[in-house]
Amino acid sequence: HSKNLKGGLMSVTPPMEKNQIGNFDANDDKSTVSITVVGASGDLAKKKIFPALFALYYEDCLPEHFTIFGYARSKMTDAELRNMVSRTLTCRIDKRENCGEKMEQFLQRCFYHSGQYDSQENFAELDKTLKKHEAGRISNRLFYLSIPPNIFVDAVKCASLSATASAGWTRVIVEKPFGRDSESSAALTKSLKQYLTEDQIFRIDHYLGKELVENLSVLRFSNLIFEPLWSRQYIRNVQLIFSEDFGTEGRGGYFDHYGIMRDIMQNHLLQILALFAMETPVSLDAEDIRNEKVKVLRSMRPIRADDVIIGQYKSHTKGGVSYPGYTDDKTVPKDSLTPTFAAAALFIDNARWDGVPFLMKAGKALHDKRAEIRVQFRNVPGNLYNRNSGTDLDQATNELVIRVQPDEAIYLKINNKVPGLGMRLDQSNLNLLYKARYSKEIPDAYERLLLDAVEGERRLFIRSDELDAAWALFTPVLKDLEENRKVPEYYPYGSRGPVGAHYLAARHNIKWG
Ligand code: NDP
Ligand code: BG6
Repeated sequence: HSKNLKGGLMSVTPPMEKNQIGNFDANDDKSTVSITVVGASGDLAKKKIFPALFALYYEDCLPEHFTIFGYARSKMTDAELRNMVSRTLTCRIDKRENCGEKMEQFLQRCFYHSGQYDSQENFAELDKTLKKHEAGRISNRLFYLSIPPNIFVDAVKCASLSATASAGWTRVIVEKPFGRDSESSAALTKSLKQYLTEDQIFRIDHYLGKELVENLSVLRFSNLIFEPLWSRQYIRNVQLIFSEDFGTEGRGGYFDHYGIMRDIMQNHLLQILALFAMETPVSLDAEDIRNEKVKVLRSMRPIRADDVIIGQYKSHTKGGVSYPGYTDDKTVPKDSLTPTFAAAALFIDNARWDGVPFLMKAGKALHDKRAEIRVQFRNVPGNLYNRNSGTDLDQATNELVIRVQPDEAIYLKINNKVPGLGMRLDQSNLNLLYKARYSKEIPDAYERLLLDAVEGERRLFIRSDELDAAWALFTPVLKDLEENRKVPEYYPYGSRGPVGAHYLAARHNIKWG
């Protein structure tokens, strides 16, 4: 698995051949890749997909022959699409050398086709246009479904019946949400599988494309010092924390149907948990890794109702500025009980993790923006330095923090002697701050995932049995909350969230990091 974008996966990958780009042969004149962004007029396409595709182009990660198509109902000409794409170039490349020139070349490879999502006829027209651009080469086709979930199946049906590649591969990237509970997710999978094989479906969870999430396995499996500690024997608890310092601005309509547990916990945080807790895979192959992840998910203890707390943000005025509450959003019903914050204690009933709480916390409109994995280790048994002191500092346990964003870092809190003639300890960090250590910018998660999809690398995409296991864990607790119309604890916009989260942690003898 050798990718220049990925900085090479150390010695497990052979060095790149000179003319090789990604996993492609740059001199391959016989085949071509057509990438169709379905829903190209939308928010995600503008914000993430086109900028990521441009970054891949800039980095020479796309094959020699490729074409990008935007597809949506809105009427647009190629020139209008190009204009839209050029205006939304907010990616990390936009300040680079020759960016303008490369951008112009990239835009010349972008085209637009207007059509309905449920029209086989419109997709057949798209097929014709694609063929024209493929110019008789072996065609490989990637469809990125960047549309609301209620039209996923229509679009897949039409694309598969009218616009699949005739000689090469056809793959479809599906955006979340993949259903809203076990039943609807299974129904979606069943419908998709009427038209696609599992191998063709790339279910995206963009957190798996984040640099520090990718690094989790490297940290653990390629350093001698971590893996032996990675169990109930040394780890007291693990915390998975997601917080945003803004509300559902602009996405209230979508969000109200899902809530924070479906939006963040059931996918992003649970995926990180599975990667964190899995056994050593047989190899780095996608199926070996996904096999281990699914075992973790299937070993999880059902979540107890009293191990979950929910919250919703309310309006708040600070420094003369007033911040809206969740239900002030016009697209949200006034009496909505949808949680914008949740915390939960989860357990993995296997030999490695028996009894270790995995605490999750996710919230919008909080006081900070961050995504972190925090690993709190046990106390040092019979610690010499705890005796006769009774101060808090001497009690401090080690904590490993993997800061996924912002300001990517890995740091380990250790007890250290304060320099001087006395014997006083304090807690200090062994700190790997990415921006201080690496000069290269970190690619956006969508770049990595798009490149993987083009290359057919499935490691970072969700397999259907993983999805089933994730829903099996969360569906009962979501049903309980919704059927009993549990009222969330209200917290002010910009605060630290509901105090209930602290009681939940305290019940498990834990302090949030
Ligand atoms: P949008 O609401 O912007 O929809 C994308 C496009 O789909 C629109 O431009 C519109 O194109 C078409 N569309 C919208 N609503 C309908 C409808 N009711 N019926 C038919 N077509 C419709 O979505 P986003 O771009 O925000 O998101 C796309 C997908 O990605 C969704 O599944 C979303 O859940 C997911 N996602 C989005 C994120 C984000 O940050 N935006 C983050 C993570 C996931 P037209 O009218 O031209 O056909
Ligand atoms: C999306 C959620 O999956 O992730 C959004 O639907 C959330 O609600 C977003 O804002 C966060 O992603 P990132 O990469 O900005 O942390």
